[in-house]
Amino acid sequence: MIRTKRDGGVLSDAAIDWVIDGYTHGRVADEQMAALLMAIFLNGMSAAETTRWTAAMVGSGERFDFTALRRGGAPLALVDKHSTGGVGDKITIPLLPVVMACGAGVPQASGRGLGHTGGTLDKLESIAGFTAELSKDRIRQQLSDVGGAIFAAGELAPADRKIYALRDITATVDSTPLIASSVMSKKLAEGARALVLDVKVGRGAFLKTEAEARLLAQVMVDLGVADGVATRALLTDMNCPLGCTVGNSVEIAESLEVLAGGGPADVVELTLTLAAEMLDAAGIDGTDPAETLRDGSAMDRFRALVAAQGGDLSRPLPLGTATETVTAPQGGIMGDLDAMGVAMAAWRLGAGRAQPGDSVQSGAGVRIHRKPGEPVAAGEPLFTLYTETAERLPAALAELDGAWSVGAAAPTPRPLVLDRIG
Ligand code: URA
Repeated sequence: MIRTKRDGGVLSDAAIDWVIDGYTHGRVADEQMAALLMAIFLNGMSAAETTRWTAAMVGSGERFDFTALRRGGAPLALVDKHSTGGVGDKITIPLLPVVMACGAGVPQASGRGLGHTGGTLDKLESIAGFTAELSKDRIRQQLSDVGGAIFAAGELAPADRKIYALRDITATVDSTPLIASSVMSKKLAEGARALVLDVKVGRGAFLKTEAEARLLAQVMVDLGVADGVATRALLTDMNCPLGCTVGNSVEIAESLEVLAGGGPADVVELTLTLAAEMLDAAGIDGTDPAETLRDGSAMDRFRALVAAQGGDLSRPLPLGTATETVTAPQGGIMGDLDAMGVAMAAWRLGAGRAQPGDSVQSGAGVRIHRKPGEPVAAGEPLFTLYTETAERLPAALAELDGAWSVGAAAPTPRPLVLDRIG
Protein backbone atom coordinates (compact mmCIF):
# COMPACT_ATOMS: atom_id res chain seq x y z
CA MET A 1 0.00 0.00 0.00
CA ILE A 2 2.82 2.41 0.86
CA ARG A 3 4.50 1.68 -2.49
CA THR A 4 1.22 2.10 -4.39
CA LYS A 5 0.59 5.56 -2.93
CA ARG A 6 4.27 6.55 -3.17
CA ASP A 7 4.15 5.78 -6.91
CA GLY A 8 0.90 7.71 -7.44
CA GLY A 9 -1.41 4.68 -7.61
CA VAL A 10 -4.91 4.17 -6.25
CA LEU A 11 -5.76 2.03 -3.19
CA SER A 12 -8.49 -0.59 -3.46
CA ASP A 13 -11.49 -0.52 -1.08
CA ALA A 14 -10.27 -3.74 0.54
CA ALA A 15 -6.80 -2.29 1.10
CA ILE A 16 -8.23 0.84 2.76
CA ASP A 17 -10.52 -1.21 5.03
CA TRP A 18 -7.57 -3.43 5.96
CA VAL A 19 -5.14 -0.65 6.84
CA ILE A 20 -7.63 1.40 8.89
CA ASP A 21 -8.71 -1.70 10.83
CA GLY A 22 -5.10 -2.90 11.22
CA TYR A 23 -3.85 0.45 12.47
CA THR A 24 -6.77 0.89 14.90
CA HIS A 25 -6.01 -2.52 16.41
CA GLY A 26 -2.21 -2.21 16.49
CA ARG A 27 -1.44 -4.62 13.62
CA VAL A 28 0.00 -1.84 11.40
CA ALA A 29 3.05 -0.09 12.88
CA ASP A 30 3.22 3.68 13.43
CA GLU A 31 6.21 3.89 11.04
CA GLN A 32 4.21 2.26 8.25
CA MET A 33 1.12 4.37 8.81
CA ALA A 34 3.31 7.50 8.94
CA ALA A 35 4.88 6.59 5.58
CA LEU A 36 1.45 5.93 4.05
CA LEU A 37 0.09 9.24 5.39
CA MET A 38 3.07 11.12 3.92
CA ALA A 39 2.54 9.41 0.55
CA ILE A 40 -1.14 10.46 0.71
CA PHE A 41 -0.10 13.97 1.74
CA LEU A 42 2.19 14.22 -1.30
CA ASN A 43 0.05 12.42 -3.92
CA GLY A 44 -3.50 12.95 -2.62
CA MET A 45 -6.42 10.55 -2.77
CA SER A 46 -9.17 10.22 -5.39
CA ALA A 47 -12.77 11.01 -4.43
CA ALA A 48 -13.52 7.26 -4.26
CA GLU A 49 -10.50 6.61 -2.01
CA THR A 50 -11.45 9.50 0.29
CA THR A 51 -15.04 8.23 0.57
CA ARG A 52 -13.86 4.71 1.45
CA TRP A 53 -11.19 6.02 3.88
CA THR A 54 -13.89 8.03 5.67
CA ALA A 55 -16.31 5.07 5.80
CA ALA A 56 -13.56 2.82 7.19
CA MET A 57 -12.83 5.40 9.94
CA VAL A 58 -16.56 5.66 10.78
CA GLY A 59 -16.64 1.85 10.91
CA SER A 60 -13.68 1.70 13.31
CA GLY A 61 -16.08 2.58 16.16
CA GLU A 62 -19.72 2.85 16.97
CA ARG A 63 -22.14 4.82 14.81
CA PHE A 64 -24.96 6.41 16.80
CA ASP A 65 -28.48 6.01 15.50
CA PHE A 66 -31.04 8.29 17.10
CA THR A 67 -33.54 8.12 14.23
CA ALA A 68 -36.18 6.48 16.46
CA LEU A 69 -36.45 9.63 18.63
CA ARG A 70 -39.71 11.53 18.24
CA ARG A 71 -41.01 14.88 19.37
CA GLY A 72 -44.69 15.87 19.33
CA GLY A 73 -45.51 12.62 17.53
CA ALA A 74 -43.12 13.34 14.61
CA PRO A 75 -39.55 12.08 14.13
CA LEU A 76 -37.00 14.44 15.71
CA ALA A 77 -35.02 16.11 12.90
CA LEU A 78 -31.33 15.73 13.83
CA VAL A 79 -28.92 18.36 12.55
CA ASP A 80 -25.43 19.52 13.48
CA LYS A 81 -22.77 22.03 12.48
CA HIS A 82 -19.00 21.88 12.40
CA SER A 83 -16.55 24.76 12.23
CA THR A 84 -13.02 24.28 10.96
CA GLY A 85 -11.90 26.56 13.80
CA GLY A 86 -11.60 30.29 14.23
CA VAL A 87 -10.50 32.92 16.73
CA GLY A 88 -13.29 33.94 19.12
CA ASP A 89 -15.42 31.30 17.41
CA LYS A 90 -17.96 30.66 20.14
CA ILE A 91 -20.81 30.32 17.61
CA THR A 92 -21.77 26.75 18.61
CA ILE A 93 -22.73 28.01 22.08
CA PRO A 94 -25.54 30.40 21.06
CA LEU A 95 -26.32 28.49 17.83
CA LEU A 96 -27.27 25.11 19.27
CA PRO A 97 -29.94 26.48 21.64
CA VAL A 98 -31.40 28.62 18.82
CA VAL A 99 -31.76 25.57 16.58
CA MET A 100 -33.09 23.46 19.48
CA ALA A 101 -35.67 26.15 20.27
CA CYS A 102 -36.80 25.98 16.62
CA GLY A 103 -37.58 22.27 17.02
CA ALA A 104 -34.45 20.42 15.80
CA GLY A 105 -32.41 17.88 17.77
CA VAL A 106 -28.66 18.52 17.90
CA PRO A 107 -26.24 15.73 18.81
CA GLN A 108 -22.89 17.53 18.73
CA ALA A 109 -19.52 15.83 19.09
CA SER A 110 -17.08 18.65 19.96
CA GLY A 111 -13.37 18.98 20.53
CA ARG A 112 -10.88 20.55 22.86
CA GLY A 113 -8.56 23.14 21.33
CA LEU A 114 -5.05 22.47 20.12
CA GLY A 115 -2.96 25.26 18.63
CA HIS A 116 -4.25 28.80 18.28
CA THR A 117 -8.01 28.15 17.99
CA GLY A 118 -9.99 27.34 21.14
CA GLY A 119 -12.19 24.29 21.56
CA THR A 120 -15.90 24.50 22.38
CA LEU A 121 -15.46 21.99 25.21
CA ASP A 122 -12.72 24.10 26.85
CA LYS A 123 -15.11 27.06 26.81
CA LEU A 124 -18.09 25.11 28.19
CA GLU A 125 -15.94 23.52 30.89
CA SER A 126 -15.43 26.99 32.39
CA ILE A 127 -19.05 26.60 33.65
CA ALA A 128 -18.85 25.03 37.13
CA GLY A 129 -19.74 21.31 37.01
CA PHE A 130 -20.21 21.05 33.23
CA THR A 131 -19.25 17.66 31.81
CA ALA A 132 -18.87 16.61 28.17
CA GLU A 133 -18.21 12.94 28.96
CA LEU A 134 -21.64 11.54 28.07
CA SER A 135 -22.56 7.92 27.35
CA LYS A 136 -24.65 7.10 24.29
CA ASP A 137 -27.68 6.41 26.50
CA ARG A 138 -27.28 9.76 28.22
CA ILE A 139 -27.00 11.53 24.85
CA ARG A 140 -30.17 9.79 23.66
CA GLN A 141 -32.01 10.72 26.87
CA GLN A 142 -30.84 14.32 26.65
CA LEU A 143 -31.90 14.63 22.99
CA SER A 144 -35.31 13.39 23.99
CA ASP A 145 -35.60 15.60 27.12
CA VAL A 146 -33.95 18.89 26.08
CA GLY A 147 -33.25 18.49 22.34
CA GLY A 148 -29.45 18.69 22.34
CA ALA A 149 -26.18 17.40 23.75
CA ILE A 150 -22.56 18.55 23.38
CA PHE A 151 -20.13 15.74 24.05
CA ALA A 152 -16.50 14.67 23.61
CA ALA A 153 -16.03 12.49 20.52
CA GLY A 154 -14.84 9.66 22.81
CA GLU A 155 -15.27 6.33 21.05
CA LEU A 156 -16.61 7.84 17.80
CA ALA A 157 -14.20 7.05 14.94
CA PRO A 158 -11.31 5.79 17.13
CA ALA A 159 -9.17 5.32 13.99
CA ASP A 160 -9.25 9.10 13.52
CA ARG A 161 -7.99 9.77 17.04
CA LYS A 162 -4.96 7.54 16.47
CA ILE A 163 -4.30 8.77 12.92
CA TYR A 164 -4.75 12.42 13.91
CA ALA A 165 -2.17 12.08 16.72
CA LEU A 166 0.28 10.57 14.21
CA ARG A 167 -0.43 13.28 11.60
CA ASP A 168 0.18 15.93 14.24
CA ILE A 169 3.82 14.78 14.73
CA THR A 170 4.61 13.90 11.09
CA ALA A 171 3.66 17.15 9.27
CA THR A 172 0.71 15.46 7.55
CA VAL A 173 -2.19 17.44 9.04
CA ASP A 174 -2.78 19.92 6.21
CA SER A 175 -3.87 17.51 3.49
CA THR A 176 -7.36 18.08 2.07
CA PRO A 177 -8.45 14.40 1.87
CA LEU A 178 -7.03 13.67 5.35
CA ILE A 179 -8.68 16.71 6.97
CA ALA A 180 -11.99 16.05 5.19
CA SER A 181 -12.07 12.37 6.18
CA SER A 182 -11.02 13.18 9.76
CA VAL A 183 -13.75 15.80 10.30
CA MET A 184 -16.47 13.89 8.46
CA SER A 185 -15.79 10.51 10.11
CA LYS A 186 -16.67 12.01 13.51
CA LYS A 187 -19.65 13.96 12.18
CA LEU A 188 -21.11 10.99 10.27
CA ALA A 189 -20.68 8.74 13.34
CA GLU A 190 -22.57 11.05 15.73
CA GLY A 191 -25.96 10.37 14.18
CA ALA A 192 -27.07 13.72 12.67
CA ARG A 193 -29.02 13.41 9.40
CA ALA A 194 -28.19 16.96 8.25
CA LEU A 195 -24.97 18.93 8.62
CA VAL A 196 -23.79 22.50 8.03
CA LEU A 197 -20.05 23.16 7.79
CA ASP A 198 -18.58 26.55 8.64
CA VAL A 199 -15.30 26.60 6.70
CA LYS A 200 -13.17 29.51 7.88
CA VAL A 201 -10.82 31.44 5.59
CA GLY A 202 -8.15 34.00 6.45
CA ARG A 203 -5.31 34.99 8.75
CA GLY A 204 -6.86 33.43 11.87
CA ALA A 205 -7.99 30.23 10.11
CA PHE A 206 -6.33 26.97 9.42
CA LEU A 207 -6.88 27.65 5.67
CA LYS A 208 -5.51 31.00 4.51
CA THR A 209 -6.91 31.17 0.96
CA GLU A 210 -10.42 31.00 -0.41
CA ALA A 211 -9.33 28.41 -3.02
CA GLU A 212 -8.10 25.98 -0.32
CA ALA A 213 -11.22 26.50 1.78
CA ARG A 214 -13.52 26.02 -1.22
CA LEU A 215 -11.82 22.73 -2.12
CA LEU A 216 -12.02 21.38 1.45
CA ALA A 217 -15.67 22.44 1.72
CA GLN A 218 -16.56 20.71 -1.53
CA VAL A 219 -14.79 17.46 -0.53
CA MET A 220 -16.57 17.45 2.86
CA VAL A 221 -19.97 18.22 1.32
CA ASP A 222 -19.45 15.37 -1.19
CA LEU A 223 -18.53 12.97 1.65
CA GLY A 224 -21.68 13.87 3.58
CA VAL A 225 -23.96 13.61 0.57
CA ALA A 226 -22.40 10.25 -0.43
CA ASP A 227 -23.34 9.00 3.03
CA GLY A 228 -26.96 10.20 2.75
CA VAL A 229 -26.52 13.19 5.11
CA ALA A 230 -27.89 16.51 3.79
CA THR A 231 -24.66 18.52 3.91
CA ARG A 232 -23.79 22.08 2.91
CA ALA A 233 -20.99 24.50 3.72
CA LEU A 234 -20.56 28.23 4.22
CA LEU A 235 -17.18 29.86 3.59
CA THR A 236 -16.79 32.57 6.25
CA ASP A 237 -14.21 35.27 6.90
CA MET A 238 -11.67 34.66 9.68
CA ASN A 239 -9.26 37.56 9.31
CA CYS A 240 -10.61 39.37 12.38
CA PRO A 241 -11.69 37.65 15.65
CA LEU A 242 -15.42 36.93 15.97
CA GLY A 243 -17.08 39.11 18.59
CA CYS A 244 -15.27 40.96 21.37
CA THR A 245 -13.83 38.08 23.39
CA VAL A 246 -11.18 35.41 22.77
CA GLY A 247 -10.58 32.78 25.46
CA ASN A 248 -12.74 30.45 27.54
CA SER A 249 -15.08 31.91 30.21
CA VAL A 250 -15.04 35.32 28.45
CA GLU A 251 -16.54 33.63 25.36
CA ILE A 252 -19.26 31.96 27.49
CA ALA A 253 -20.14 35.37 28.96
CA GLU A 254 -20.43 36.82 25.44
CA SER A 255 -22.55 33.88 24.28
CA LEU A 256 -24.93 34.52 27.20
CA GLU A 257 -25.23 38.15 26.03
CA VAL A 258 -26.24 36.90 22.55
CA LEU A 259 -28.77 34.48 24.07
CA ALA A 260 -30.17 37.40 26.11
CA GLY A 261 -30.87 39.29 22.87
CA GLY A 262 -27.70 41.45 22.76
CA GLY A 263 -24.07 40.68 21.93
CA PRO A 264 -21.77 41.71 19.08
CA ALA A 265 -23.35 42.11 15.63
CA ASP A 266 -20.98 39.67 13.87
CA VAL A 267 -21.66 36.86 16.38
CA VAL A 268 -25.42 37.41 16.08
CA GLU A 269 -25.22 37.51 12.25
CA LEU A 270 -23.24 34.28 11.95
CA THR A 271 -25.39 32.51 14.56
CA LEU A 272 -28.60 33.38 12.70
CA THR A 273 -27.16 32.62 9.24
CA LEU A 274 -25.96 29.18 10.33
CA ALA A 275 -29.23 28.53 12.18
CA ALA A 276 -31.22 29.25 9.01
CA GLU A 277 -28.99 26.85 7.04
CA MET A 278 -29.30 24.12 9.68
CA LEU A 279 -33.09 24.40 9.86
CA ASP A 280 -33.34 24.34 6.06
CA ALA A 281 -31.02 21.30 5.84
CA ALA A 282 -33.14 19.56 8.51
CA GLY A 283 -36.36 20.34 6.62
CA ILE A 284 -37.79 22.57 9.38
CA ASP A 285 -39.62 25.67 8.18
CA GLY A 286 -42.02 28.21 9.61
CA THR A 287 -39.78 29.23 12.52
CA ASP A 288 -37.76 32.43 12.94
CA PRO A 289 -34.38 31.84 14.63
CA ALA A 290 -34.08 35.55 15.55
CA GLU A 291 -37.33 35.32 17.52
CA THR A 292 -35.79 32.68 19.84
CA LEU A 293 -33.18 35.26 20.91
CA ARG A 294 -35.86 37.91 21.46
CA ASP A 295 -38.37 35.75 23.36
CA GLY A 296 -35.84 33.96 25.59
CA SER A 297 -36.62 30.46 24.29
CA ALA A 298 -33.02 29.92 23.10
CA MET A 299 -31.72 31.00 26.53
CA ASP A 300 -34.13 28.51 28.15
CA ARG A 301 -32.76 25.73 25.90
CA PHE A 302 -29.18 26.65 26.79
CA ARG A 303 -29.95 26.59 30.52
CA ALA A 304 -31.66 23.20 30.13
CA LEU A 305 -28.71 21.77 28.17
CA VAL A 306 -26.13 23.05 30.68
CA ALA A 307 -28.16 21.77 33.66
CA ALA A 308 -28.58 18.35 31.99
CA GLN A 309 -24.78 18.16 31.67
CA GLY A 310 -24.17 19.06 35.34
CA GLY A 311 -23.34 22.75 34.80
CA ASP A 312 -24.36 25.46 37.27
CA LEU A 313 -24.90 28.85 35.64
CA SER A 314 -25.77 30.46 38.99
CA ARG A 315 -22.08 30.21 39.98
CA PRO A 316 -19.93 33.12 38.67
CA LEU A 317 -17.76 32.38 35.64
CA PRO A 318 -14.04 32.44 36.51
CA LEU A 319 -12.02 35.43 35.29
CA GLY A 320 -8.22 35.73 35.52
CA THR A 321 -7.21 38.02 38.39
CA ALA A 322 -3.96 39.27 36.80
CA THR A 323 -4.92 41.81 34.14
CA GLU A 324 -3.37 44.36 31.82
CA THR A 325 -5.10 46.96 29.69
CA VAL A 326 -3.82 48.25 26.33
CA THR A 327 -4.92 51.84 25.68
CA ALA A 328 -5.06 53.93 22.51
CA PRO A 329 -1.91 56.03 22.00
CA GLN A 330 -3.93 58.59 20.02
CA GLY A 331 -7.48 59.20 18.83
CA GLY A 332 -8.74 57.99 15.45
CA ILE A 333 -10.45 54.93 14.00
CA MET A 334 -9.67 51.36 14.96
CA GLY A 335 -7.95 49.65 12.02
CA ASP A 336 -7.92 46.01 11.02
CA LEU A 337 -7.41 43.45 13.81
CA ASP A 338 -5.21 40.46 13.10
CA ALA A 339 -7.02 37.38 14.43
CA MET A 340 -3.78 35.40 14.68
CA GLY A 341 -2.10 38.01 16.91
CA VAL A 342 -5.11 38.12 19.26
CA ALA A 343 -5.29 34.29 19.31
CA MET A 344 -1.61 34.01 20.19
CA ALA A 345 -2.06 36.55 23.01
CA ALA A 346 -4.95 34.48 24.45
CA TRP A 347 -2.86 31.34 24.09
CA ARG A 348 0.07 32.93 25.93
CA LEU A 349 -2.32 33.95 28.72
CA GLY A 350 -3.18 30.26 29.25
CA ALA A 351 -6.45 29.92 27.27
CA GLY A 352 -5.01 27.22 24.96
CA ARG A 353 -2.67 24.25 25.18
CA ALA A 354 0.72 23.38 23.66
CA GLN A 355 0.31 19.58 23.89
CA PRO A 356 -2.80 17.38 23.85
CA GLY A 357 -3.75 16.70 27.47
CA ASP A 358 -2.38 20.03 28.85
CA SER A 359 -4.86 21.86 31.08
CA VAL A 360 -6.19 25.31 30.13
CA GLN A 361 -7.05 28.28 32.32
CA SER A 362 -10.81 28.86 32.25
CA GLY A 363 -10.45 32.54 33.14
CA ALA A 364 -7.69 33.40 30.64
CA GLY A 365 -8.51 35.51 27.59
CA VAL A 366 -8.68 38.83 25.81
CA ARG A 367 -11.54 41.34 25.74
CA ILE A 368 -11.60 43.56 22.66
CA HIS A 369 -13.08 46.99 23.47
CA ARG A 370 -12.99 48.47 19.96
CA LYS A 371 -13.72 46.57 16.74
CA PRO A 372 -12.37 47.64 13.30
CA GLY A 373 -14.00 50.83 12.06
CA GLU A 374 -15.08 52.08 15.51
CA PRO A 375 -13.99 55.55 16.70
CA VAL A 376 -11.33 55.65 19.42
CA ALA A 377 -10.31 58.49 21.79
CA ALA A 378 -6.69 58.85 23.01
CA GLY A 379 -6.14 56.88 26.24
CA GLU A 380 -9.27 54.72 25.85
CA PRO A 381 -8.95 50.99 26.59
CA LEU A 382 -8.60 48.86 23.44
CA PHE A 383 -7.92 45.44 24.96
CA THR A 384 -8.02 43.89 28.45
CA LEU A 385 -5.97 40.75 29.06
CA TYR A 386 -6.85 38.24 31.81
CA THR A 387 -4.79 35.38 33.27
CA GLU A 388 -4.21 33.59 36.57
CA THR A 389 -0.44 33.77 35.93
CA ALA A 390 0.90 37.34 35.95
CA GLU A 391 4.25 36.18 34.42
CA ARG A 392 2.33 35.36 31.22
CA LEU A 393 1.30 39.00 30.62
CA PRO A 394 4.50 40.35 28.95
CA ALA A 395 4.58 37.60 26.29
CA ALA A 396 0.86 38.06 25.62
CA LEU A 397 1.31 41.84 25.25
CA ALA A 398 4.16 41.18 22.78
CA GLU A 399 1.86 38.97 20.67
CA LEU A 400 -0.76 41.75 20.51
CA ASP A 401 1.82 44.29 19.31
CA GLY A 402 1.40 44.75 15.59
CA ALA A 403 -2.01 43.00 15.57
CA TRP A 404 -3.92 46.32 15.66
CA SER A 405 -3.63 49.98 14.71
CA VAL A 406 -5.47 53.25 15.24
CA GLY A 407 -5.43 55.55 12.22
CA ALA A 408 -7.27 58.23 10.31
CA ALA A 409 -9.14 55.99 7.87
CA ALA A 410 -11.58 53.13 8.50
CA PRO A 411 -10.52 49.73 7.11
CA THR A 412 -12.53 48.39 4.17
CA PRO A 413 -15.38 46.29 5.60
CA ARG A 414 -15.39 42.61 4.55
CA PRO A 415 -18.49 40.41 4.25
CA LEU A 416 -18.70 37.74 6.95
CA VAL A 417 -20.19 35.05 4.69
CA LEU A 418 -18.15 34.66 1.50
CA ASP A 419 -19.96 31.82 -0.24
CA ARG A 420 -22.25 28.81 0.17
CA ILE A 421 -21.48 25.35 -1.21
CA GLY A 422 -23.89 22.44 -1.57
N1 URA B 1 -9.84 18.91 12.69
C1 URA B 1 -10.03 17.57 12.63
O1 URA B 1 -10.90 17.01 13.30
N2 URA B 1 -9.25 16.86 11.80
C2 URA B 1 -8.29 17.42 11.03
O2 URA B 1 -7.64 16.71 10.30
C3 URA B 1 -8.10 18.81 11.11
C4 URA B 1 -8.90 19.55 11.95
